[in-house]
Amino acid sequence: MVKPIVVLEDITKSYKIGKVTYEVLKGINLEVYPGEFVAIMGPSGGGKSTLLNIIGLLDKPTSGKYFLEGVEVSDLSKKELARLRNQKIGFIFQAFHLIPWATAMENVLMPLLYRKEGIKKEDVKRAEELLTRLGLGDRLDARPAELSGGQQQRVAIARALINQPKLLLADEPTGNLDTKSSEEVLKIFEELNQTGLTIIMVTHDPEVAQRAQRIKTIRDGKFIE
Ligand SMILES: Nc1ncnc2c1ncn2[C@@H]1O[C@H](COP(=O)(O)OP(=O)(O)OP(=O)(O)O)[C@@H](O)[C@H]1O
Ligand SMILES: [Mg+2]
Repeated sequence: MVKPIVVLEDITKSYKIGKVTYEVLKGINLEVYPGEFVAIMGPSGGGKSTLLNIIGLLDKPTSGKYFLEGVEVSDLSKKELARLRNQKIGFIFQAFHLIPWATAMENVLMPLLYRKEGIKKEDVKRAEELLTRLGLGDRLDARPAELSGGQQQRVAIARALINQPKLLLADEPTGNLDTKSSEEVLKIFEELNQTGLTIIMVTHDPEVAQRAQRIKTIRDGKFIE
């Protein structure tokens, strides 16, 4: 039997501002299976990024249980979480979050600097292959400012893939892109998904969400059925 890669059980998240507590997520349940492509939609401020950050181990829920490949993550230390994140999860953001002084190649290799082994020859080869596959074979030494938005997002995708993650998380990946570049990014997602990569993508754009196999919508802190 195939086991889910992500299981969320009654996840809540509240923020305390002064004496007031804001409940952003009010009981989220979700199962995502290997090879799925899921879109998460909902209004601005609805908690989409908060949820994705929890799934990506960048943030902790206030209550509820999260199993990543069967492992309950709430008891793990910061160090263990960082290791798990680095091993299993690739993250893509709306604003690319590339390092401005580093080249495309250096940006892609950056996640490997956190490993004990450091960067090996074959890593450099893989980074080059990834960038080439994403149409940037002739821009390996370009810095982010010398690249278009779509090209920068493709560098970010290559960076997210360098550790061969099981799970790709994308928060409004086309939010800063024109129609053509958005289309390129969505095509890449579809291709990656077809090779077996599990993808969870946050978007407020229904057309973008349609590219996923399954759409979940957050309303008032919960998924609507
Ligand atoms: N660190 C924080 N401290 C306090 N409140 C926060 C924090 N992070 C998020 N919030 C609040 O939680 C709510 C949900 O934010 P979130 O960024 O998850 O929404 P979103 O659905 O991603 O919105 P958008 O579509 O605009 O990106 C918002 O009201 C936001 O102000
Ligand atoms: Mg957001």
